[in-house]
Amino acid sequence: MAHQQAYQIAAPFVKWAGGKRQIISELRAHIPDSFGTYYEPFVGGGAMAFSILADNARTPCSLSDLNSDLIITYVTVRDRVEELISSLRVHERNYAQDPRAYYYATRASAPRTQVAKAARLLFLNKTCFNGLYRVNSNGQFNVPMGRYTNPNIVNADALRSASRILRSRRISIKCADFTAVLRTARRGDFVYFDPPYQPASRTASFTSYTSMDFGAQDLARLAETCNKLSERGCYVLVSNSDTRNVHATFDADWSVGRLRAKRAINSVGSSRNGHSELLIQNY
Ligand SMILES: C[S@@+](CC[C@H](N)C(=O)[O-])C[C@H]1O[C@@H](n2cnc3c(N)ncnc32)[C@H](O)[C@@H]1O
Repeated sequence: MAHQQAYQIAAPFVKWAGGKRQIISELRAHIPDSFGTYYEPFVGGGAMAFSILADNARTPCSLSDLNSDLIITYVTVRDRVEELISSLRVHERNYAQDPRAYYYATRASAPRTQVAKAARLLFLNKTCFNGLYRVNSNGQFNVPMGRYTNPNIVNADALRSASRILRSRRISIKCADFTAVLRTARRGDFVYFDPPYQPASRTASFTSYTSMDFGAQDLARLAETCNKLSERGCYVLVSNSDTRNVHATFDADWSVGRLRAKRAINSVGSSRNGHSELLIQNY
């Protein structure tokens, strides 16, 4: 019961493309029995991180992502949650007056302060199509407005709960390329990599969380990073799409399993019904 309660409290506060909330129970079966620090270098909405913290809020965690707006939002939720909630209330009131005009004006805006940046990201996340985060090559958010009658723009309880959890001194939150994990991860630590997926087909591509796409070279860098961590004695778990290039990238030392996953981020309607994805691990 205590666990059940904690798990409900520590939930992701952004909906993220490729988020693992829907398959978290399958993923949890792959968490090592015991480990030192938990690393999540492509944290996104942080479904796995919040789930691990729900088990034990004192787990040392290193959470990072290359999307600076996302990391600013995590840091703001942690350090300035009440100001953030007030700013979201202003968004909520303005949106209610004229949703369409306000959505597109906010999408076009470029706030300068930390709280305003975080509030903008959360507002757009709640009101855009599908809760998708996608930017163009200039780094500008370009998702159209979603169709919601009453979006939950100010989820104050969820934000306060996340803030409480993230304030642990054992949690670090950084904007960094995933290879930064090599600087500090040690034997016995657990690293979960959930990178932007390699496209299963040309039309199914979704890798634009930042202005730089995650391509074949990044996949090769990821495999190299995984091999180094493995040699060091870390537990390494990787999610990715079930594609030939992903299979070819990890050699026979890695154990590869399949998971059926439902996703709703592809532009092609028929591919929303689910497909298999890979879980690659060294333990
Ligand atoms: C599939 S999402 C992660 C989803 C997350 N596991 C969840 O449950 O919401 C991939 C993330 O990788 C980030 N990313 C892309 N390239 C990166 C890089 N080179 N280093 C670190 N993060 C990167 C994106 O910003 C995005 O948040």
